Amino acid sequence: MIRLQDVAKIYNRGSQQVVALQHVTLEMGKGEFVVLMGPSGCGKSTLLNLVGGLDVPTSGEIFIDGLPLGKLTDRQLSLLRREKIGIVFQFFNLLPTLNVQENTELPLLLQGVSPKEASRKAEVLLSRVGLSHRMTHAVHELSGGEMQRVAIARALIHNPEIILADEPTGNLDSKTGSDILKLLKSISEESEYTVLLATHSLEATRYADRVIHLRDGRVLNSPSLSGFEPF
Ligand SMILES: Nc1ncnc2c1ncn2[C@@H]1O[C@H](COP(=O)(O)OP(=O)(O)OP(=O)(O)O)[C@@H](O)[C@H]1O
Ligand SMILES: [Mg+2]
Repeated sequence: MIRLQDVAKIYNRGSQQVVALQHVTLEMGKGEFVVLMGPSGCGKSTLLNLVGGLDVPTSGEIFIDGLPLGKLTDRQLSLLRREKIGIVFQFFNLLPTLNVQENTELPLLLQGVSPKEASRKAEVLLSRVGLSHRMTHAVHELSGGEMQRVAIARALIHNPEIILADEPTGNLDSKTGSDILKLLKSISEESEYTVLLATHSLEATRYADRVIHLRDGRVLNSPSLSGFEPF
């Protein structure tokens, strides 16, 4: 359902070129939990941003459900993002002026879903992430792990097929990080979400159907060598 075909991303900074990704060819199937590992600067966030349609590759093509992102119009791309992709960030990106429920339902309200329906779905999702008792809390009244659970509920509320998570545990202690990983894993198993998770955390590999190692913008292990550890 996600396919990257010889993808490169090169940033031009004046006369300097930064090769963030090169020759990346990958496939991820529906319901697969894929962990993207590698040192700082190896291209993890770049890859996630490209799959999420937040940035465009310099060369190569990315397909989601067979649709080539590079050939879509802006409108088609934002529609595809809105329907199929949910994103979870390291720093949660919650709006501080909205409470837990309002943060969760915001994507639906922006899509024109009725407030009643949005609030019903927010309740279901917040219950799923164990936060029914925090619906009216302000963001600053939450722990880091709770903030990330709200962010996960928000990422799931439009029922996407793909969850992109960029270091979702990077800002949490190890126990809370572990809980978030388990939550993402069980959610992906229940509903067949495809999860692509970038992390430095070795623990995340325990939950992975497949681990992809990136170094200097390249994939180290070939897709056919699932679970291959290069060290
Ligand atoms: N907008 C940009 N302009 C120039 N270079 C960039 C830009 N964004 C990223 N890079 C460079 O591209 C490379 C890959 O960056 P990326 O953010 O994808 O790494 P990462 O693996 O996510 O690192 P981290 O683990 O620290 O988050 C890095 O060398 C970075 O400096
Ligand atoms: Mg990053």
